[in-house]
Amino acid sequence: MKRLSAIPGILCISTILLVLAALAACGNNAPAPDDSSAEQLELTAAELAQYDGKDGQPAYIAIDGVIYDVTDVPQWKNGEHNGFTAGRDLTEEIKTISPHGVSKLKGLPVVGRLITD
Ligand code: HEM
Repeated sequence: MKRLSAIPGILCISTILLVLAALAACGNNAPAPDDSSAEQLELTAAELAQYDGKDGQPAYIAIDGVIYDVTDVPQWKNGEHNGFTAGRDLTEEIKTISPHGVSKLKGLPVVGRLITD
């Protein structure tokens, strides 16, 4: 009789252990990899220079440390735009010379950031 009465207790403890194990497994899930940050480049000004939109190279420009891809922007055909060339830090130029300012950067693909060597 004693043995039979112990069975519900064992079942109850097993259930609790199973629930705890399931919760622990959930907690161990690795966070989803952040694809956007994984692909971000870190380029020095010298490295950025090769992305000038010439000879099949993409056209990148750096503004305030952020590198934008203007390869598919019609106004930046062949990495040229109103006398400016891609592959450079154009922070001062876009802010002081261009009539549009940084507004044109909105929506452009960000490919990385400019670093000092
Ligand atoms: C990054 C540095 C940039 C500089 C220094 C610059 C400079 C200039 C300048 C000087 C003009 C006037 C041209 C004229 O007098 O007719 C101009 C116009 C223009 N730029 Fe830029 N630009 C830059 C980036 C961009 C970007 C990233 C885009 C587009 C994604 C863009 C789109 C345009 C357009 C559409 C115009 C025609 C005028 C307007 O809509 O405001 N520019 N830019």
